[in-house]
Amino acid sequence: MNFVDAVKDLAQSNGMIVPEDDRLLPAQRAEVNARSLALSDVMTRACDYYRQQLRGAESAVAYLKKRGLTGEIAARFGLGYAPEGWDGLRSVFSDYASPALVEAGLVIDKSDEDASSRKRYDRFRERIMFPIRNTKGQVIGFGGRILDQGEPKYLNSPETPLFQKGHELYGLFEARQAIRDAGYVLVTEGYMDVVALAQLGFPQVVATLGTACTSTHVQKLLRQTDHVVFSFDGDKAGRRAARRALDACLPHVNDNKVIKFLFLPVEHDPDSYIRELGADAFEVQVQDAMPLSQFFLKEVVGDGDLATAEGRARAQFDAKPLLQIMAPSSLRLQMVRGLAQLTQTTPSEIESLFELSQPVARARVAPPKSKRSAPVGLERQVMRILVAHPSLAFMLDESILDDAAKLAPDGAEMLTQLVSVSQEMGEQANFAALAERLRATGSDFDILIAEIAEQTETDFDVVKLELAGALRQISSQVLKVEMMRLAAGGLRDPADIARYREITLLQEEIRRQAEVEAAR
Ligand code: UTP
Ligand code: MN
Repeated sequence: MNFVDAVKDLAQSNGMIVPEDDRLLPAQRAEVNARSLALSDVMTRACDYYRQQLRGAESAVAYLKKRGLTGEIAARFGLGYAPEGWDGLRSVFSDYASPALVEAGLVIDKSDEDASSRKRYDRFRERIMFPIRNTKGQVIGFGGRILDQGEPKYLNSPETPLFQKGHELYGLFEARQAIRDAGYVLVTEGYMDVVALAQLGFPQVVATLGTACTSTHVQKLLRQTDHVVFSFDGDKAGRRAARRALDACLPHVNDNKVIKFLFLPVEHDPDSYIRELGADAFEVQVQDAMPLSQFFLKEVVGDGDLATAEGRARAQFDAKPLLQIMAPSSLRLQMVRGLAQLTQTTPSEIESLFELSQPVARARVAPPKSKRSAPVGLERQVMRILVAHPSLAFMLDESILDDAAKLAPDGAEMLTQLVSVSQEMGEQANFAALAERLRATGSDFDILIAEIAEQTETDFDVVKLELAGALRQISSQVLKVEMMRLAAGGLRDPADIARYREITLLQEEIRRQAEVEAAR
């Protein structure tokens, strides 16, 4: 992997997304649009050709029949056949030498020893063709299955500007209405699973494209429905894939989403299961799929021994990053509670030990009625603490205010105002006096003040630790963003590399401080 891909891969396995710089100039955007239009035209023509080729291809039709597929379902998914021969597409594209064909991944240029004679040939030959459509219905890639045995079993289009495997889901375009009707989407691992299940009564099915489930996949799915069931083969690889899916889901779950994991018996994939045991049995499997919260606990416990302190600590260690990427929610609280029970801890101990943003178990505060650009997340947590304990304002200096402004420009003004009012009041500052002064300024603090007034008293030292933790997280997040920006730039400039190293050290220092504090 190159550096940028490695960063993306790491980020993805930790449930994060490396921000892409999509601020294109209008002229660039127009060029991108024009290119993708040309590309999708080429793909459509190839797709039509493959479909038409399937009609006359006895071996291909026999294969599909053997797999139990009807002509109707083949037509619904636009299945086709790439015939034998090296340059079948020559009959479709009068300009077979066109660069657009390489760009679309339909042909491969083979450069000989003497570079003068270039040979070009079709990528897909003697394969059943599964066209992959984007959500607009444009064909953006193909998966090609070999008839019966051979390597590779599936040959896929290379990534193009239109087609990124980590973003697309096979069958999503075809399944959209069915997903709405069924109220959920079923995510499988194979092209064949999608087509077979659709034929046998489960049209609400999609598949990843031979890659791990990504955060982008999850976002795409959750745009279609609030209920996602992932299906995995029962083997080790399936288990690993399920773990990747869990990681990809955690940043996006909240209280009105249901995500479940279905593990089939080791020897089966959905296609073979439903053909052998029938649709009703498969339906039962879907109904009985394991909820995300349960799979989470199963994963963090692993085969550890919860009868020992070490085993319980280990489970918490494994759970920490997973809970940290979740947004504060009832579901997170439930998962914290589940973990607490298993590991002989209290939910609020876990929340503070893990430095979870906006601890839910401790704060017991109703979310504010939404007000435009009200501060959220860390910043809100900091402000809430400051309003309750203004004497802690000395803990915020210029640089942390700068960082907060970078993270959440909207709420920064309020925070700065709050800090300066509190600092003016000095060490004697308290909630009542501050509330008075803030009310007098006729400001936006009313909601916060109301929240605090309702809050039960918490230990001052605990609050101080919580504030320190939140401030560290703010600095750390700002550094993280800078790090990703540097990485996305490719780290070619030595100054960038030096800065990158520096940030690594700063992050290390922040982590060390957190550990020191946690140990106190
Ligand atoms: P499987 O090997 O489980 O195949 O690959 P399958 O989906 O059950 O297909 P059939 O039933 O044998 O026809 C699962 C998915 O992994 C990707 C494809 O997306 C495939 O659907 N894959 C697999 C590849 O991309 N290339 C391969 O060589 C194999
Ligand atoms: Mn299969």
